[in-house]
Amino acid sequence: TKTAESAAGGKLVMVTNAEFPPYEYHNNNEIVGIDAEIAKAIADKLGMELEIQDMAFDSLIPAVQSGKADFTAAGMTVNEDRKKNVDFTDTYAKAAQVIIVKEGSDIVNPDGLEGKKVGVQTGTTGDIYADDIKDAAVQRFNKGMDAVMALTQDKIDAVVIDREPATVFVKDNTGLKILDEAFTEEEYAIAVKKGNTELLEKMNGAIKELKDSGELQKIIDKYITA
Ligand code: ARG
Repeated sequence: TKTAESAAGGKLVMVTNAEFPPYEYHNNNEIVGIDAEIAKAIADKLGMELEIQDMAFDSLIPAVQSGKADFTAAGMTVNEDRKKNVDFTDTYAKAAQVIIVKEGSDIVNPDGLEGKKVGVQTGTTGDIYADDIKDAAVQRFNKGMDAVMALTQDKIDAVVIDREPATVFVKDNTGLKILDEAFTEEEYAIAVKKGNTELLEKMNGAIKELKDSGELQKIIDKYITA
């Protein structure tokens, strides 16, 4: 595996957690989605090859820190804590944490989560927020979809997760709904190894071009229909 040091040699290694439609998911042994396409478009602009590896969400930042990967694109929310460990590019999408419940649930807004069993994907911002809910029993899952399955089986009362995957999961499973009131607003960015300003600047240049040309919005619109 090539690392950041050899990135100039022509290959970029990206790590992601492909359990997060429509940003990254498996389709016929391939990792596809918004992040995969944006990363490919960036690599093309830099004249580099792209390799995508799949791993647990909470292993992504360590993989970038250790140099096992050049960057992670994973619907990753920019926050102060993560900024201590990696450098983020300019943001490329807006996001929000939302609440999924069963239809007919007595939970009607974020306050209603108090004292409830709340499912999240391990290490995500949903996990961080759920942690602050008074008297809630937080259950952590490797995949967001596993949390949604637990909800359909009444093992938990709600799932806190990003809006776009929530929309996909609710569409694929009957009897679920997303509450109107979102938990938080967030923004996604790509993360590189701390101090790798060369790659960071190159990627920011490519992201700006993709924004200015409308190509970035085109990729997002291909997967998210308003
Ligand atoms: N936006 C949330 C975060 O940064 C969840 C991201 C989950 N991404 C994934 N590929 N599973 O923590």
